[in-house]
Amino acid sequence: MRQLLITSALPYANGHIHIGHLVEYLQTDIWVRFQKMIGNRAVYVCADDTHGTAIMIRARAEGRSEEALIAEMSEAHQRDFAGFGIEFDHYGSTHSEANRAVCHEIWAALRAADMIVEEDIAQLFDTEQGTFLADRFVRGTCPRCGSKDQPGDNCGSCGATYSPVDLVDPVSTLSGSRPEIREAKHLFVRIEKMHDFLAEWTQSGTIPTESANYLKNFFLHEPLRDWDVSRPAPYFGFEIPDSPGNYWYVWFDAPIGYIGATAEWCERQGEKLDDWWRSDRTEVHHFIGKDIQYFHTLFWPAELKTAGFSLPTQVHIHGFLTVDGEKMSKSRGTFIRASKYLEHLDPEYLRYYYATKLSSRVEDLDLNLGEFVARVNSDLVGKVVNLASRTAKFVAESGLSAEYPDDGGLFTRFAERGAEIAAAYENGDYGKAMRMIMELADQANPYVEEKAPWELRKDPAKARELQDACTVALNLFRTLVIYLAPVLPSLARKTGELFGETITSWSQAGTPLTGRPIAKFSHMMQRVDAAKVEAMIAESREEAAAEAPATAPEAKTREDSGDALAANPIAAEIGIEDFLKTDLRVARIVAADEVPEAKKLVKLTLSLGGESRRTVFAGIKSAYAPADLVGRLVVVVANLAPRQMKFGVSEGMIIAAGPGGEDIFLLSPDDGAVPGQRVG
Ligand code: MSP
Ligand code: ZN
Repeated sequence: MRQLLITSALPYANGHIHIGHLVEYLQTDIWVRFQKMIGNRAVYVCADDTHGTAIMIRARAEGRSEEALIAEMSEAHQRDFAGFGIEFDHYGSTHSEANRAVCHEIWAALRAADMIVEEDIAQLFDTEQGTFLADRFVRGTCPRCGSKDQPGDNCGSCGATYSPVDLVDPVSTLSGSRPEIREAKHLFVRIEKMHDFLAEWTQSGTIPTESANYLKNFFLHEPLRDWDVSRPAPYFGFEIPDSPGNYWYVWFDAPIGYIGATAEWCERQGEKLDDWWRSDRTEVHHFIGKDIQYFHTLFWPAELKTAGFSLPTQVHIHGFLTVDGEKMSKSRGTFIRASKYLEHLDPEYLRYYYATKLSSRVEDLDLNLGEFVARVNSDLVGKVVNLASRTAKFVAESGLSAEYPDDGGLFTRFAERGAEIAAAYENGDYGKAMRMIMELADQANPYVEEKAPWELRKDPAKARELQDACTVALNLFRTLVIYLAPVLPSLARKTGELFGETITSWSQAGTPLTGRPIAKFSHMMQRVDAAKVEAMIAESREEAAAEAPATAPEAKTREDSGDALAANPIAAEIGIEDFLKTDLRVARIVAADEVPEAKKLVKLTLSLGGESRRTVFAGIKSAYAPADLVGRLVVVVANLAPRQMKFGVSEGMIIAAGPGGEDIFLLSPDDGAVPGQRVG
């Protein structure tokens, strides 16, 4: 029995799960289920990837803590995964104490190996958002080949890697503004120290050949650049223990989250982490998309090696999803959230369809919506479920024949195919496995047609023949479902109920069932309704449009335009208790000072009456001159946790409307209000 630790990439907590992600999570779940069915010990762990600038900015914008935001997203992710039958043994979070502990351990090992160096570096700083920008929040023109709209770290067009500050015409994707360059201290991992190890490890068959070649050609032929693993405050993450004010970059603690999540699982199960991450007995299998292979095939093994953890046995890398031949698109309605899909369609359809498309190669795969409908209907409903729906009812009273009838060797042929199908699953060639299973279904259906049980039942003298024919057809059906069980857990469960068993093991396919009752047949799978696919697309399109409205029209009419509301729809409903948690107060601005290094900020001193003073850094310089602010009344969020900013601590937030830039409008209480009064 093999012992397997299996992971999928940790989804970012700043977005919902969509059908692109599902390529990966379904693929992994199928592999895990397959491994469990053939009797291996498999543990599937995953977690939310919670740190970084995006979460911080969003939490800020939504006026809540990062913790509250990531808790909500984790729940949403887990709901989506469960809806698709994706069964983790443990689902954690990178923002956990277990993960922090492993980060400390790996960091100490990197320090001890003299692999950490410090350097002042120039980084892009978004002055509108008041934050340094992670590579992925910058886009611009590739400094090498000139391709436009490339990511901050490497060019999708020519493969060049660079620092975001090298980008020509950089744009912050957080604010759309042009970021400026600022210097700050950063900590780097000197990954070049592991060059020889990586050159060997990446070429040793642990990653797909195309990826191994890619690394060899683009990265390993020259010295590896130091990897920048720290970000200065403000940053949502773990503070680096020996470098106060600096935080580990999200990509440092994210893969470590695989170990952190395993540690939590071990804790729950009373297992030892070292049996899973420091043991030759355990195979570690990562499933990831091609966009993140660099992190998983260079940095990650280098860290694991340095800290004495097991190296991945295999990194399974898949390509990207397109829909009807194009990138998922919000405006076309093909950017489909997992939850939206589930409102309309059976998850098993997508599980099967993706399975037909997956191979062990790093290839993009296309969800062709027309083919999706046709394939599921013809294969699953037409060829597989149909075997049972046309025969089960005829043996509802008699049950299966006591002896397995002569079927001309059909069942034996089915059973013999099991090893080959299993090998295809093992290799990630699910498409091949599905084709083999459907070839078998194509042998079972002619048998039923030839026997025509619906004719046999008309003649009482042929009761025995009818029972035998149905016994054969149902056993062939059952074998097909066992082979499909990793892909279609729900169909397998219903099939088990029909036969009064639980389908858990691949070996069940080897022996036909006889002499037992058959439960009443109830619908196992409906045909895919193309209208529901269309409704799903239409709703995805509409909802995306509501989130990101078209640019505002030039002409302003006397009637108030709906643009502002459309640009920023009303938030989810809350109860009065939630509202009352926000303590809004009237305050007077008693001083307003420039912050010379900050383009956007004004430092305000607020009086809440009497001796009570607050310092608030407000991003309103683009709309208000400090001198004009002194003396006026504003509304302040008075019970907001103080926030350390680059220029000092901000002890609240003043309330304003408008999209930003010159369009910022402070709210003023009417005459008569005095500082300290509660607003609400
Ligand atoms: N948080 C990182 C992973 C950290 S792993 C230590 C991340 N998150 S993600 O949410 O953007 O993506 C999660 C996984 O889904 C990645 O493996 C990614 O390749 C995969 N996919 C995201 N969009 C996809 C498609 N459109 N198609 C196929 N896979 C996709 O990356
Ligand atoms: Zn380029």
